Amino acid sequence: MAIRRILTVPDPVLKQVSTPVGAVDDDIRALMDDMLETMYAAPGIGLAAVQVGVPKRVIVMDLAREGEEPQPRYFVNPEIVTANRDLLPYEEGCLSVPDIYDEVERPSQVRIRYMNYDGEQVEEDCEGLYAVCIQHEMDHLNGVLFIDHLSRLKRQRAIQKVKKAERQREDEAEEDEAPSAAAI
Ligand code: NI
Repeated sequence: MAIRRILTVPDPVLKQVSTPVGAVDDDIRALMDDMLETMYAAPGIGLAAVQVGVPKRVIVMDLAREGEEPQPRYFVNPEIVTANRDLLPYEEGCLSVPDIYDEVERPSQVRIRYMNYDGEQVEEDCEGLYAVCIQHEMDHLNGVLFIDHLSRLKRQRAIQKVKKAERQREDEAEEDEAPSAAAI
C-alpha cells in the first residue's frame, strides 16, 4: 500500500468524468487499498479515485467515529437507484478543497447500487452522513466538486484561498530546503 498525492483545486483532472471499471481485479483492489491509506492519512472520511489522479469510478469511505473500529467501505461503479425529495443541508468539506467548509443541500436518502471490494453487486439504502458522503463522492466521479453547488462568488473565493495556501506551503518548503542547499 502507498499514500498517493491528493489533487487540489483548480487541478483540471478533478473536472474529468471518471470511466466505469470493467471488473474488480487485483489492480482495482490495489488502487482501493492505496486510496484508503491515503484517506486515513489525510485524514478524511471519503475519497474518489480521481482525487488521486485516477479517473475511474471508484470510491472509498469510512464513517466510523473516533474510538470506533475502522469500517472501510469500497464502491465500484456506484449508481443512484432512487433519491427522495427531502433535501438535507449539511456543512461539507473536501480533501481537494482543503480548509473550506460550506453548506450543501442534497436528498436526505438515496438507494445506491455498486460493486464491493469482492466485485459483488450490492444495493443499499443510505441516509444521514452516509447519504451526504456517497453523493459528494459520486459527484467527484462526474467532475463535480461541492463548491460547484455554491454561488460563483463563493466558489471563486474558495479556489483563491486554496491556491494561496498552496503557494505559502511551497514557499515554506523552499525556505526549509535553503540551509541544506547552502551547506553543500
Ligand atoms: Ni471531496
